[in-house]
Amino acid sequence: MVVEQTNFDLYWHHSQIRRADRERLNGHRGITLWFTGLPSSGKSTLAAALETVLYERKCRTYILDGDNIRQGLNRDLGFSPADRMENIRRIGEVANLLRDSGIINLVAFISPYRSDRKTARDLSKGDGSFIEIFVDCPVEICETRDPKQLYKKARAGVLKEFTGISAPYEPPENPEIHLHTDVDSISQCVDKIIAYLEGNYYIK
Ligand SMILES: Nc1ncnc2c1ncn2[C@@H]1O[C@H](COP(=O)(O)OP(=O)(O)OP(=O)(O)O)[C@@H](O)[C@H]1O
Ligand SMILES: [Mg+2]
Repeated sequence: MVVEQTNFDLYWHHSQIRRADRERLNGHRGITLWFTGLPSSGKSTLAAALETVLYERKCRTYILDGDNIRQGLNRDLGFSPADRMENIRRIGEVANLLRDSGIINLVAFISPYRSDRKTARDLSKGDGSFIEIFVDCPVEICETRDPKQLYKKARAGVLKEFTGISAPYEPPENPEIHLHTDVDSISQCVDKIIAYLEGNYYIK
């Protein structure tokens, strides 16, 4: 449910410490690494593996994982197109706040709709702090992995509106990073992301 805003007498209250100050303290930029892909493509696995590497490099990080957020902040939302849109709208806003906090946030949501990912990206106002990572893997391979047995439940008709089976997935057209998890290992995928972050001076 989206509540329309009726009060426009709202002003952003700036504090004395700005994003640039926090980034200087952290020694890196506040960025979002937005993982998108089919269920079981590897978003959560890669976000966790990458976070470990970033932590060892003394980066401040936090993972926003779809399954975790749906147990709390977004527990009122289901899987209809409208609820999926609201799911991503909220997490786009949280990611934006975390960028402002100077943290490297790793977002691992299926985020199946291009327009919703664009809405999340647009909050960064083109400042280069939103990095979309397409976790690409053929649905047949994802289905053989199925660590949560969700494809099995979707095939049995227990789970409705399941992305890749009975609900659409719109692949990114121009992701900053395109991974193929059916070809590259977890550590090779992590190395590719680190190389991108180093090559573009996001981390030292
Ligand atoms: N190169 C790879 N990268 C990531 N995961 C891989 C790779 N190769 C195999 N896997 C396996 O694929 C599975 C991916 O599951 P994971 O829960 O990370 O997917 P997910 O994209 O987060 O799915 P969901 O949308 O359901 O949360 C894991 O069991 C992982 O070990
Ligand atoms: Mg996951």
